[in-house]
Amino acid sequence: MAIYYQQDQQQFHLQSKNMSYIIELVHGYPAHIYWGRKLSLQGDLSDVLMKYERGSFSPNPIPEDKRISLDTLPQEYPQYGTSDFRNPAYQLQLEDGSRITELLYQTHRIIDGKPALEGLPAVYAESAQEAQTLELELLDAHSGITVILSYTVFEEFNAVARSARFLNTGKQSVHMLRALSASVDFPDAQYESLYLSGAWARERHIQRRSLVPGATVIESRRGSSSHQHNPFMALLRPDTNEDRGEVYGFSLVYSGNFIAQAEVDQYETTRMSIGINPFDFKWLLEPGEAFQTPEAVMVYSDEGLGGMSRTYHKLYRTRLCRGVHRDKERPILVNNWEATYFDFNAEKIEAIATEAAELGIELFVLDDGWFGKRDSDNSSLGDWFDDRRKLPGGLKDLAERVNHLGLQFGLWVEPEMVSPDSELYRSHPDWCLHAAGRRRTEAREQLILDYSRADVREYIFESLSQIFRTVPVSYVKWDMNRNMTEIGSAFHGPERQMEIAHRYILGLYELMGKLVDEFPHILFESCSGGGGRFDPGMLFYMPQTWTSDDTDAVERLKIQYGTSMVYPISSMGSHVSDVPNHQVGRIASMVTRGDVAMSGNFGYELDLTKLSEEDKAVIKQQVSAYKEVRKLIQNGELYRLKSPFEGNETAWMFVSEDQMEAVVYYFRVLAEPNEPLRRLKLQGLKPEVSYHVEQLGGSFFGDRLIHIGLPLKPVHKDFISACYRIHAVSND
Ligand code: DGJ
Repeated sequence: MAIYYQQDQQQFHLQSKNMSYIIELVHGYPAHIYWGRKLSLQGDLSDVLMKYERGSFSPNPIPEDKRISLDTLPQEYPQYGTSDFRNPAYQLQLEDGSRITELLYQTHRIIDGKPALEGLPAVYAESAQEAQTLELELLDAHSGITVILSYTVFEEFNAVARSARFLNTGKQSVHMLRALSASVDFPDAQYESLYLSGAWARERHIQRRSLVPGATVIESRRGSSSHQHNPFMALLRPDTNEDRGEVYGFSLVYSGNFIAQAEVDQYETTRMSIGINPFDFKWLLEPGEAFQTPEAVMVYSDEGLGGMSRTYHKLYRTRLCRGVHRDKERPILVNNWEATYFDFNAEKIEAIATEAAELGIELFVLDDGWFGKRDSDNSSLGDWFDDRRKLPGGLKDLAERVNHLGLQFGLWVEPEMVSPDSELYRSHPDWCLHAAGRRRTEAREQLILDYSRADVREYIFESLSQIFRTVPVSYVKWDMNRNMTEIGSAFHGPERQMEIAHRYILGLYELMGKLVDEFPHILFESCSGGGGRFDPGMLFYMPQTWTSDDTDAVERLKIQYGTSMVYPISSMGSHVSDVPNHQVGRIASMVTRGDVAMSGNFGYELDLTKLSEEDKAVIKQQVSAYKEVRKLIQNGELYRLKSPFEGNETAWMFVSEDQMEAVVYYFRVLAEPNEPLRRLKLQGLKPEVSYHVEQLGGSFFGDRLIHIGLPLKPVHKDFISACYRIHAVSND
């Protein structure tokens, strides 16, 4: 891995293990020359950029060379207004009202390692040797605005982490109207886009379609990354599948409003860009101030979607997630939400925890309803003190009792919210997001606290710290159950109101950062009505997320499959819940529910005191099996074998890094009459190694398992699953 500046060619060649990314300075404009499989440094690439005079509708900034128009030049950080009519990466408005700027190369730096991003989550290098960063410094001489484009490449990952930093080094105030994180111009348009869309309870379903002239756009205007679209888009060649074909992934390390778009222009080139959504965004940058964009993590794979996902998984698991829990096996938990909802008391909780201890479960999580006077979702958010009606001995006493049973204690909080019916709201009606004189639109009878305000963040930090200091809490589920409306702040002046959505996210990051630093022993899990904020920004602070409020095993196949496109298995919370399922009414067996849930961070979310002896026996067996395989599942390499988006069957497998061990899960949704005899072809194993397949009671060479596959038994039942555990037995 390294970054080379080839002065004679005015090119920067960024290399990682199998990837090159090349930038050329063309009359001072940073132009995009190449991104893909690794190229040798020896070759002359000075004539890769093709130049051609296009005529008057593509104007020419360099009078002596009519072959150059910004309208056709592939660029790294394009502007609007000076001859490029495609989507710009940024736009500034100067004091005179003009929106014309021109960023030209000034200087550059090549730095070992990776500098942190001020105030924002980002991937990191643990040592100066594992990554290098190029900082390209550009200047708009007229306004004095400097922009530093940052590119980090890692030795081990075929990825480029990009961001931009704006510095007002001039004398006038500037309004930033748009500041994306990355823009890449691809030389053709023979791509499909793949992205993850959905809704509450059906998050991150895969969408795949061909690019056509015009733009493919996904975005969030909800104030959070959202259930509806995930801040991720990939471009892939049409013949790409799970294990072959070229893929370019774009993932934004950000939890607020975003945009990701692929624009195909008149000459069949593709501009892919990603960043903060410019919709409803404007930022005042005074002289001397800086603005840092979030980071876009761009992954290249020529091993299909599987290759892209495995790169994201390892990069995010080991160089985005942080803290003592990063590499630790995650505890098996039981959560009381679907077991009791708001209707519980200390006795009931202790009874569930007692059963849990007997079954080998390791953590009890007390969900919503333990504070204020919250008997339903209509009150008390913001009043973070325990409800002595439900917990007469207090939260600390309950936590200690749970600990005494041999379980860790976890707690649900929703610290970004306030209920109008709360002591907090009555004392500070101005502390929520609102626009003066307007209705404060409620959702679930709650409003959103104004995290752009330091006093609000301080109050919440103190309320939570008070609990975490006194109660033995070792896990926190941080929920967030609505999207933003009437986005405005009583604290900031009129000229800053379009900054509030972003300032909120910066405030959230600051608060979460302070809490995880102060309480490093706590394992934090983020949640937003399930997976409404399942994004890389949150994972920087909280290494796992509650994947979806939909706990139905069949629904979860699509949700978990889609989520696994980008996010590591160690980040996905996945629980067995009761039947009929509370979201869709389906009745799947305990075994199938367990196999789906075991394909993530495993747990239960049902009333353990109401189980049959038969179910308890299955649970006991699931808990002990998961303890044996969880390291492999949480940290192994994922191979997706069959997609729930393409048929009745789903299958995936987890393989240890040394390829000596694997676990395979197979699911079939509906029974088929007189079904064909099928096999499941595996991946990720060594062809020459013999593997014992426990469930088949025999050993088979890797090549047979890969090319012929495991035989699947016909079963006359809906919603079935099978698990196969595989160990290498010899190397001959
Ligand atoms: C939404 C979460 O996703 C659920 O798991 C649960 O914690 C509820 N909120 C509680 O209000």
